[in-house]
Amino acid sequence: MSLPLGNCVVPLDFRMTAIEEKPASATAAPNAHGAPPANGAAPSSGALLGHPEGVVLDVPSAIRTRRTIRRWSDRPVPDEIVKELLECALWAPSACNMQLWTFIVVTDAQTRQSLGDAVPFADKAQVCIFICYDTRFSEGSHANIQSASAAVMNMLLRAHSLGLGGFWQATIHDRQKLRETIGLPPDMEVLSTTLFGYPAENPSAPARRDPSHLVHWQRFDPKFTLPSSPDPEDWRLEQIADYQQARIRAGPKYNKPIKSEYEAVRGYLGHALRRTGAKKVLDLLPCTGLYLEAIAQELPEAELHFVELGKQVASFAQARLAGRNATYHEYHGTIDLPDGSVDAATCVFRLENLPEADRETLLREAYRVVKPGGALVIAHINRVSYFEPMRLVRRALGRRDVQYALHTDPSLGPFTALTPGEVDDLAERAGFRIEHEHRVFPLPPEDEAKHRVRTFHNAVSALQYPISAAYRVTRPLHPTIKSLGKIRFLTLRKP
Ligand SMILES: Cc1cc2nc3c(=O)[nH]c(=O)nc-3n(C[C@H](O)[C@H](O)[C@H](O)COP(=O)(O)O)c2cc1C
Repeated sequence: MSLPLGNCVVPLDFRMTAIEEKPASATAAPNAHGAPPANGAAPSSGALLGHPEGVVLDVPSAIRTRRTIRRWSDRPVPDEIVKELLECALWAPSACNMQLWTFIVVTDAQTRQSLGDAVPFADKAQVCIFICYDTRFSEGSHANIQSASAAVMNMLLRAHSLGLGGFWQATIHDRQKLRETIGLPPDMEVLSTTLFGYPAENPSAPARRDPSHLVHWQRFDPKFTLPSSPDPEDWRLEQIADYQQARIRAGPKYNKPIKSEYEAVRGYLGHALRRTGAKKVLDLLPCTGLYLEAIAQELPEAELHFVELGKQVASFAQARLAGRNATYHEYHGTIDLPDGSVDAATCVFRLENLPEADRETLLREAYRVVKPGGALVIAHINRVSYFEPMRLVRRALGRRDVQYALHTDPSLGPFTALTPGEVDDLAERAGFRIEHEHRVFPLPPEDEAKHRVRTFHNAVSALQYPISAAYRVTRPLHPTIKSLGKIRFLTLRKP
């Protein structure tokens, strides 16, 4: 086999001897126009992962049914198949046909094992291909990155068509260790990692965003772009909904709660709701549903309702409830429940997501639907706490756009801590009376210290040790400095 390149013919000695290619017998059926199903989800990959080896998919089916695979069997991938993937990579378009890419293929089990802590999943996949480029060549128009990305995509599609599962991974925990292990010279950079093996999972297709928000015909339309600012004042409610839907599709793995925080909030919610004797509870904007789930567990008999900004986020929250029913009410500024129809409402770290005017509207609506004598339980991040300096330090270190807004679970999107005065004002203007107030964590507990520095992977990450030590040493003083607590709880009453 040889690749004709211009006038010269480049011999390719790694071409596999034979990969039998028959027409696909088990492709998922797109509709008559070859379009994905009307709901926007790609067809399930279920029928295809087990497709007989050697059966190839047509291009539209391969594009629609490829899934990111993150779990593989121990079955080795034959060298011929790896070479086939690489040949497909080399057939990708590249800027000026320069092909300024380098593929470092690691199949050796020991090397993969030793890379496990530097490159997630390197020890789990059978084949790791590191796509590298030389930084001495022009980076104009990101041409090298664009070219290498095309090569990655070719490999992923070809792998899928051969019954393999591929994973395009940007995350690298320890670049230095990776460089040393694969012997990368100083001028070369690893662009991304592509991992392959025979799949040991069969994920369903993560939904795609609404094309009408993403495709602009003829001219840019600012209507659907999302602000990169972490300040809620720069956002409209429907933009927050759109952003949260996009984030939620990556699954809950990016939103692991900090254990100490979760336990404190769950403890307060359970205690406050039981004390009010609530039988019908409305959770305001549960987003990932972390605390809706906690409420369901704390109050196994209660009738649950929640308001959310969009169906996909609502389904995500609902899916956590393990069969327990919670009625969803779509929120656009009004709650479709009658006056005085719930015993208690809860709002956990979600006022901080909203522009000021929407915070006020939400609390007024909560006041309307809570029965006289009923309660609203709020948890919010206290701006007069270590949270604010921590946010500013992270910002100074480059974590400045909305993706890095220092939101707490279950929030996603823009986020701003609120002062106790701001929240009390809002609650009182809505008509509530403050019955009980409590604050916790005047200093970051150990698990939070670890959580906040975990993505830095350099000297900053070592800060977790002195921060944790400070928490332990000052613990006896915490009751006296609790007004600086990061989390503030309020139980409010409707008179
Ligand atoms: C450039 C790029 C980088 C990615 N990096 C990661 C990563 O670091 N970790 C991860 O779990 N998934 C990563 N993914 C996979 C995406 O999460 C995945 O493509 C997305 O959720 C859609 O799922 P699908 O590929 O099954 O359609 C990456 C994908 C791309 C294109």
